[in-house]
Amino acid sequence: MSEHTREAPRSWLLDKPLTGFALPSGRLGSLQGWLMGRLNGDEQSEAGALLAARPGEHVLEVGYGPGVLVERTLAAGAHVTGVDPSPQMAAQARRRNAAAVEEGRADLRVGTAERTGLPDGTFDAVVSVNNVPMWSDLDAGMRELHRVLRPGGRAVVTWHGGDRPRFVARRILLADDVLERIVAGMRAAFGTAELHRGDRLVAMLAHRAPAEPDGARAGRRRPGPPG
Ligand SMILES: C[S@@+](CC[C@H](N)C(=O)[O-])C[C@H]1O[C@@H](n2cnc3c(N)ncnc32)[C@H](O)[C@@H]1O
Repeated sequence: MSEHTREAPRSWLLDKPLTGFALPSGRLGSLQGWLMGRLNGDEQSEAGALLAARPGEHVLEVGYGPGVLVERTLAAGAHVTGVDPSPQMAAQARRRNAAAVEEGRADLRVGTAERTGLPDGTFDAVVSVNNVPMWSDLDAGMRELHRVLRPGGRAVVTWHGGDRPRFVARRILLADDVLERIVAGMRAAFGTAELHRGDRLVAMLAHRAPAEPDGARAGRRRPGPPG
Protein backbone atom coordinates (compact mmCIF):
# COMPACT_ATOMS: atom_id res chain seq x y z
CA MET A 1 0.00 0.00 0.00
CA SER A 2 1.21 3.54 -0.72
CA GLU A 3 2.20 5.70 2.24
CA HIS A 4 -0.34 8.26 0.93
CA THR A 5 -3.50 6.22 0.34
CA ARG A 6 -6.43 8.66 0.13
CA GLU A 7 -9.59 6.60 0.64
CA ALA A 8 -9.99 5.31 4.22
CA PRO A 9 -10.49 1.52 4.37
CA ARG A 10 -13.66 0.11 5.97
CA SER A 11 -13.85 -2.17 8.99
CA TRP A 12 -15.29 -5.70 8.53
CA LEU A 13 -17.13 -5.24 11.85
CA LEU A 14 -18.42 -1.68 11.74
CA ASP A 15 -18.77 -1.47 7.96
CA LYS A 16 -17.73 2.18 7.89
CA PRO A 17 -14.55 4.00 6.99
CA LEU A 18 -11.91 4.02 9.74
CA THR A 19 -11.38 7.28 11.60
CA GLY A 20 -9.75 8.48 14.83
CA PHE A 21 -7.75 5.97 16.86
CA ALA A 22 -8.73 3.27 14.37
CA LEU A 23 -6.54 4.89 11.70
CA PRO A 24 -4.64 7.87 13.12
CA SER A 25 -4.18 10.48 10.41
CA GLY A 26 -4.11 14.19 9.74
CA ARG A 27 -3.20 16.75 12.35
CA LEU A 28 -4.73 14.74 15.21
CA GLY A 29 -2.95 11.54 14.23
CA SER A 30 0.28 12.19 16.11
CA LEU A 31 -1.61 13.20 19.25
CA GLN A 32 -3.75 10.04 19.05
CA GLY A 33 -0.59 7.96 18.73
CA TRP A 34 0.99 9.73 21.69
CA LEU A 35 -2.14 9.10 23.80
CA MET A 36 -2.20 5.39 22.90
CA GLY A 37 1.45 5.19 23.82
CA ARG A 38 0.66 6.69 27.24
CA LEU A 39 -2.59 4.87 28.01
CA ASN A 40 -2.26 1.30 26.72
CA GLY A 41 0.76 0.26 28.80
CA ASP A 42 -0.94 -2.49 30.84
CA GLU A 43 -2.43 -4.06 27.73
CA GLN A 44 0.93 -3.98 25.96
CA SER A 45 2.53 -5.71 28.97
CA GLU A 46 -0.11 -8.41 29.01
CA ALA A 47 0.06 -8.92 25.25
CA GLY A 48 3.86 -9.01 25.49
CA ALA A 49 3.64 -11.73 28.16
CA LEU A 50 1.36 -13.83 25.91
CA LEU A 51 3.71 -13.28 22.98
CA ALA A 52 6.73 -14.25 25.12
CA ALA A 53 9.28 -13.22 22.48
CA ARG A 54 12.69 -14.84 22.87
CA PRO A 55 16.13 -13.54 21.87
CA GLY A 56 16.80 -14.00 18.16
CA GLU A 57 13.17 -14.66 17.21
CA HIS A 58 11.56 -12.85 14.26
CA VAL A 59 8.28 -11.26 15.27
CA LEU A 60 5.71 -9.50 13.08
CA GLU A 61 3.49 -6.90 14.73
CA VAL A 62 0.35 -6.00 12.83
CA GLY A 63 -1.11 -2.54 13.62
CA TYR A 64 1.82 -1.40 15.80
CA GLY A 65 0.47 2.17 16.29
CA PRO A 66 3.00 4.26 18.27
CA GLY A 67 5.34 1.26 18.58
CA VAL A 68 5.29 0.58 22.33
CA LEU A 69 5.08 -3.20 21.97
CA VAL A 70 7.70 -3.03 19.22
CA GLU A 71 10.02 -1.40 21.77
CA ARG A 72 9.32 -4.08 24.39
CA THR A 73 9.74 -6.93 21.91
CA LEU A 74 13.07 -5.52 20.80
CA ALA A 75 14.10 -5.26 24.45
CA ALA A 76 13.43 -9.01 24.74
CA GLY A 77 16.09 -9.52 22.07
CA ALA A 78 13.80 -10.29 19.11
CA HIS A 79 13.88 -8.76 15.61
CA VAL A 80 10.65 -6.93 14.79
CA THR A 81 8.92 -6.29 11.50
CA GLY A 82 5.73 -4.24 11.62
CA VAL A 83 2.89 -3.27 9.31
CA ASP A 84 0.40 -0.47 9.97
CA PRO A 85 -1.62 1.45 7.37
CA SER A 86 -1.08 4.83 9.06
CA PRO A 87 1.97 6.78 7.80
CA GLN A 88 1.75 8.89 10.99
CA MET A 89 2.05 5.77 13.14
CA ALA A 90 4.92 4.50 10.98
CA ALA A 91 6.78 7.79 11.55
CA GLN A 92 6.06 7.77 15.30
CA ALA A 93 6.99 4.11 15.81
CA ARG A 94 10.19 4.55 13.77
CA ARG A 95 11.14 7.55 15.93
CA ARG A 96 10.46 5.62 19.14
CA ASN A 97 12.62 2.73 17.91
CA ALA A 98 15.14 4.77 15.93
CA ALA A 99 18.26 2.93 17.10
CA ALA A 100 16.84 -0.51 16.25
CA VAL A 101 15.61 0.74 12.85
CA GLU A 102 19.09 2.11 12.19
CA GLU A 103 20.70 -1.20 13.21
CA GLY A 104 18.28 -3.22 11.05
CA ARG A 105 16.63 -4.97 14.04
CA ALA A 106 13.30 -3.23 13.38
CA ASP A 107 11.59 -2.79 10.01
CA LEU A 108 8.39 -0.74 10.42
CA ARG A 109 6.37 -0.58 7.23
CA VAL A 110 3.09 0.76 5.93
CA GLY A 111 0.80 -2.19 5.25
CA THR A 112 -2.20 -4.05 6.63
CA ALA A 113 -3.07 -7.32 8.31
CA GLU A 114 -4.72 -8.47 5.10
CA ARG A 115 -1.79 -7.50 2.84
CA THR A 116 1.50 -7.47 4.67
CA GLY A 117 3.56 -7.82 1.49
CA LEU A 118 5.86 -10.20 3.42
CA PRO A 119 7.12 -13.63 2.30
CA ASP A 120 5.59 -16.99 3.29
CA GLY A 121 6.72 -18.83 6.41
CA THR A 122 9.00 -16.08 7.74
CA PHE A 123 8.04 -15.34 11.36
CA ASP A 124 8.28 -17.20 14.65
CA ALA A 125 5.36 -15.19 16.01
CA VAL A 126 2.77 -12.65 14.91
CA VAL A 127 1.03 -10.26 17.30
CA SER A 128 -1.84 -7.80 16.87
CA VAL A 129 -2.99 -5.56 19.73
CA ASN A 130 -6.20 -3.53 19.64
CA ASN A 131 -6.77 -3.56 15.91
CA VAL A 132 -8.57 -6.76 14.78
CA PRO A 133 -11.98 -4.97 14.52
CA MET A 134 -10.33 -2.44 12.19
CA TRP A 135 -9.20 -4.95 9.58
CA SER A 136 -11.20 -4.61 6.38
CA ASP A 137 -11.49 -8.40 5.95
CA LEU A 138 -11.22 -10.60 9.07
CA ASP A 139 -10.81 -13.92 7.24
CA ALA A 140 -8.23 -12.55 4.79
CA GLY A 141 -6.28 -11.10 7.75
CA MET A 142 -6.24 -14.43 9.58
CA ARG A 143 -5.14 -16.26 6.42
CA GLU A 144 -2.34 -13.72 6.00
CA LEU A 145 -1.12 -14.20 9.59
CA HIS A 146 -1.07 -17.95 9.01
CA ARG A 147 0.76 -17.56 5.68
CA VAL A 148 3.65 -15.47 7.04
CA LEU A 149 4.21 -17.71 10.10
CA ARG A 150 6.73 -20.53 9.91
CA PRO A 151 5.34 -24.00 10.69
CA GLY A 152 4.96 -24.17 14.48
CA GLY A 153 4.85 -20.36 14.75
CA ARG A 154 2.34 -18.67 17.06
CA ALA A 155 -0.28 -15.95 16.64
CA VAL A 156 -1.55 -13.65 19.40
CA VAL A 157 -4.44 -11.31 18.58
CA THR A 158 -5.80 -9.16 21.42
CA TRP A 159 -8.52 -6.60 22.15
CA HIS A 160 -9.54 -4.60 25.23
CA GLY A 161 -11.44 -6.69 27.78
CA GLY A 162 -10.69 -9.33 30.37
CA ASP A 163 -11.54 -9.26 34.08
CA ARG A 164 -10.52 -5.63 34.67
CA PRO A 165 -10.72 -3.68 31.38
CA ARG A 166 -9.42 -0.12 31.64
CA PHE A 167 -12.14 2.43 32.41
CA VAL A 168 -11.76 4.19 29.05
CA ALA A 169 -11.95 0.87 27.19
CA ARG A 170 -15.25 -0.24 28.74
CA ARG A 171 -17.41 1.32 26.05
CA ILE A 172 -15.55 -0.43 23.22
CA LEU A 173 -15.53 -4.00 24.53
CA LEU A 174 -16.56 -6.65 22.00
CA ALA A 175 -19.72 -8.72 22.54
CA ASP A 176 -19.30 -12.46 23.02
CA ASP A 177 -20.72 -13.27 19.57
CA VAL A 178 -18.15 -10.97 17.95
CA LEU A 179 -15.33 -12.63 19.90
CA GLU A 180 -16.67 -15.99 18.77
CA ARG A 181 -16.68 -14.74 15.16
CA ILE A 182 -13.01 -13.72 15.49
CA VAL A 183 -12.07 -17.10 17.00
CA ALA A 184 -13.98 -18.82 14.18
CA GLY A 185 -12.02 -16.79 11.60
CA MET A 186 -8.78 -17.77 13.28
CA ARG A 187 -9.83 -21.41 13.47
CA ALA A 188 -10.70 -21.43 9.76
CA ALA A 189 -7.16 -20.23 8.94
CA PHE A 190 -5.19 -22.21 11.56
CA GLY A 191 -7.26 -25.34 12.19
CA THR A 192 -7.52 -24.64 15.94
CA ALA A 193 -7.71 -21.45 18.01
CA GLU A 194 -8.65 -20.55 21.57
CA LEU A 195 -10.10 -17.56 23.37
CA HIS A 196 -8.16 -16.43 26.45
CA ARG A 197 -9.66 -13.99 28.98
CA GLY A 198 -6.92 -12.04 30.71
CA ASP A 199 -6.85 -9.18 33.15
CA ARG A 200 -7.03 -6.16 30.81
CA LEU A 201 -7.56 -7.95 27.49
CA VAL A 202 -9.08 -10.84 25.62
CA ALA A 203 -6.79 -12.78 23.32
CA MET A 204 -7.28 -15.13 20.41
CA LEU A 205 -4.39 -17.61 20.30
CA ALA A 206 -3.33 -20.08 17.63
CA HIS A 207 -0.32 -21.96 16.25
CA ARG A 208 0.51 -22.81 12.67
CA ALA A 209 0.75 -26.61 12.52
CA PRO A 210 4.36 -27.84 12.75
CA ALA A 211 5.98 -29.23 9.61
CA GLU A 212 5.55 -32.97 9.24
CA PRO A 213 8.75 -35.01 9.23
CA ASP A 214 9.62 -36.17 5.67
CA GLY A 215 9.03 -39.81 6.62
CA ALA A 216 5.45 -39.18 7.76
CA ARG A 217 4.58 -37.43 4.49
CA ALA A 218 6.21 -40.10 2.37
CA GLY A 219 4.45 -42.84 4.39
CA ARG A 220 1.04 -41.29 3.68
CA ARG A 221 1.80 -41.01 -0.04
CA ARG A 222 2.88 -44.67 -0.37
CA PRO A 223 0.30 -46.57 -2.45
CA GLY A 224 -1.51 -49.43 -0.72
CA PRO A 225 -1.05 -53.07 -1.68
CA PRO A 226 -2.58 -54.02 -5.02
CA GLY A 227 -6.16 -55.09 -4.37
C1 LIG B 1 -6.25 1.61 18.35
S1 LIG B 1 -4.75 1.60 17.44
C2 LIG B 1 -3.76 0.41 18.34
C3 LIG B 1 -2.29 0.63 18.14
C4 LIG B 1 -1.36 -0.22 19.01
N1 LIG B 1 -1.39 -1.61 18.64
C5 LIG B 1 -1.71 -0.06 20.46
O1 LIG B 1 -2.25 -0.98 21.06
O2 LIG B 1 -1.40 1.01 21.01
C6 LIG B 1 -5.20 0.73 15.98
C7 LIG B 1 -4.07 0.63 14.97
O3 LIG B 1 -4.46 -0.30 13.96
C8 LIG B 1 -4.05 0.21 12.73
N2 LIG B 1 -4.87 -0.42 11.68
C9 LIG B 1 -6.03 0.00 11.11
N3 LIG B 1 -6.42 -0.85 10.16
C10 LIG B 1 -5.51 -1.86 10.11
C11 LIG B 1 -5.36 -3.02 9.30
N4 LIG B 1 -6.24 -3.35 8.35
N5 LIG B 1 -4.29 -3.81 9.52
C12 LIG B 1 -3.39 -3.51 10.48
N6 LIG B 1 -3.47 -2.39 11.27
C13 LIG B 1 -4.54 -1.59 11.09
C14 LIG B 1 -4.20 1.72 12.87
O4 LIG B 1 -3.45 2.45 11.93
C15 LIG B 1 -3.72 1.94 14.29
O5 LIG B 1 -2.35 2.18 14.38
